Amino acid sequence: MSKSILFLCGSLRADSFNKKVMSVAAKALPKGYHAEFFDLAAIPPYNADHDGADAPASVLALREAISSADGVFWSTPEYNYALPGLVKNVIDWASRPMLPQNCVVGKPMNALVTTMSATNGVRSLTELKIYWGHLGGFSVPQPDCVITQAGAKISVVDGEVIMEPAALQQVALAIRVLVNIVETDVSGALEANWAAVVASLSS
Ligand SMILES: Cc1cc2nc3c(=O)[nH]c(=O)nc-3n(C[C@H](O)[C@H](O)[C@H](O)COP(=O)(O)O)c2cc1C
Repeated sequence: MSKSILFLCGSLRADSFNKKVMSVAAKALPKGYHAEFFDLAAIPPYNADHDGADAPASVLALREAISSADGVFWSTPEYNYALPGLVKNVIDWASRPMLPQNCVVGKPMNALVTTMSATNGVRSLTELKIYWGHLGGFSVPQPDCVITQAGAKISVVDGEVIMEPAALQQVALAIRVLVNIVETDVSGALEANWAAVVASLSS
């Protein structure tokens, strides 16, 4: 059966470079994999009063999309030297309910940051990988995938996203290293670890 990678974008703007890179990344999936997408525009700010039985339908759908994916690929900008609030907000919704386990537990994830800047972007990437790990997921530890100076490297010609060869190689590598991890049994090991932690809470 074909494995699925869920693609999430940390920018909502229509002409987003990260959206363009995400579409290229989805096409780089190897045989035996298919892409799923989830538009984050409908996810409201986290509010514990509207969680649990009252959780919004968009949030329930998001949790289900993460749960049912074999891996997750984030394409996101950096805002003010940090992870965009949109992405942190998704992390907050995904982290609940925490018990018996949240939807991120055991989920392999890789991220690629695309930025207009010549030097920034890696802070956003690092932050996202740290949060994902705190939730019990697995963030691909290296390499750091950051496409800088997006304006000079990405264009659209006749509706097709064109990327400079080195940037395109980075996208292919970001997908390759995620797929390599999905092919291991990292999910089983992380789920067992999560269950051990939960059991220790009640003993
Ligand atoms: C509010 C805001 C803050 C930003 N801060 C950063 C930053 O800290 N580091 C960076 O590399 N780019 C920063 N940028 C520039 C983004 O790299 C650029 O807007 C990029 O195109 C956003 O991604 P998108 O095209 O997918 O929307 C910022 C942009 C905005 C709108």
